[in-house]
Amino acid sequence: MHTLLFPEKRSKSSMNCKGPWKLKKWLVILNILVVSLLSSSSSACSFPAVYNFGDSNSDTGSASAAFGRVPSPNGETFFGRPSGRYSDGRLIIDFMADKLGLPYLNAYLDALQPNFRHGANFAVAGSTIQPGNGELFDAGFNPLSLDIQLLQFEQLKARTNEFYNQAKSSQIKSTFPRMEDFSKALYTLDSGQNDLHFWLTTIGEEQAKASIPSIINQFAMAIEKLYQEGARTFWIHNTGPVGCLPLFFVEDTPQPGNADQNGCIKSYNEVAQEFNKQLKDRVSQLRTQLDDALIIYVDIYSAKYTLISEAKKLGFVNPLEYCCMHTEDSHASCRQRVIVNGTEVNGVSCEDPSKYISWDNIHYTEAANHWIANRIMDGSLSDPPIPLNETCQKLLL
Ligand SMILES: *[C@@H]1O[C@H](CO)[C@@H](O)[C@H](O)[C@H]1NC(C)=O
Ligand SMILES: *[C@@H]1O[C@H](CO)[C@@H](O)[C@H](O)[C@H]1NC(C)=O
Repeated sequence: MHTLLFPEKRSKSSMNCKGPWKLKKWLVILNILVVSLLSSSSSACSFPAVYNFGDSNSDTGSASAAFGRVPSPNGETFFGRPSGRYSDGRLIIDFMADKLGLPYLNAYLDALQPNFRHGANFAVAGSTIQPGNGELFDAGFNPLSLDIQLLQFEQLKARTNEFYNQAKSSQIKSTFPRMEDFSKALYTLDSGQNDLHFWLTTIGEEQAKASIPSIINQFAMAIEKLYQEGARTFWIHNTGPVGCLPLFFVEDTPQPGNADQNGCIKSYNEVAQEFNKQLKDRVSQLRTQLDDALIIYVDIYSAKYTLISEAKKLGFVNPLEYCCMHTEDSHASCRQRVIVNGTEVNGVSCEDPSKYISWDNIHYTEAANHWIANRIMDGSLSDPPIPLNETCQKLLL
């Protein structure tokens, strides 16, 4: 294109005279503008960064860094070692990063060589939307709830700003976010499953339903806070079919009449559906309130439930079975090491994790996560229905 606009042949007058040279300079600038406009409208969408919040569905290492390393055989399929994720391999957020052409997100709490140039992951396994308290801790959940994750984000942003004004080494700077990227980044959230899990196993279905409005409020406050911090593009997952987690079948089977056609606990899934309905309503309110933001609600419940319903057809074993366990004690969770005869031992993986939907009776396998990610990224389960890789362009139009 440059050769078209600037033939090698130069006229004498343009060599000697200031006027035409100025014109040429403007043509260069115009040319650059045209080229960049053309390429931005035809190439793939590019977010400079992703900031993620949530629980173990998208934790890439924060709980592992804070509360003890996620043990083997987690990570065996893709990373070949524990990677801070509760799965044999990648999570949905990893497949999303791939699709966006970004590296896998570093966990905010991981102190060893973090690189936040393309975002950070604040999600923590075992966290809730509701602020942590003694009851939640006793039940095995942790204090790094959504409000705390937001404080961490605000701190990352504020301290990055200070750092940029002081730092001299550009090499160190290159591992920090760019200040101007915060408003251009994608903000992803996947939280609420642990709130439901806690209620369902403590106060029961009816009270769980009654508690939903208050956590939806807390969730909406988080979105508003992020918006105030400059976030403009949101990708929000609803919550999955909690009643299909094999965890609940380890010690009990559903009451007669309380199982759906897949054997999942019907009353638990109804609570998840009620949560999702209220979340969706609230997200549409937020859309009118924050009218220069793009807020996408993603029905991950449907993706997961379809996978479970079509498990056989898709080549998976019974969806209520799971891959990783302790052979000595099938009730012990593969998420932890257990002591057998005075020695700590890891759980044992099944022969072929890619045949299972559930990895450890709560978390999904890499194969399942891959399928679910493909199902949601094309936008067909989203409101508004925008594919992930075209999301950043929509905000500009
Ligand atoms: C988004 O992804 C789909 C499916 O992979 C592809 O067909 C489409 O061209 C992509 N869009 C852009 C803007 O890259
Ligand atoms: C634990 O030790 C007992 C007694 O030595 C032995 O019978 C048992 O097999 C051991 N269990 C395992 C899982 O190694």
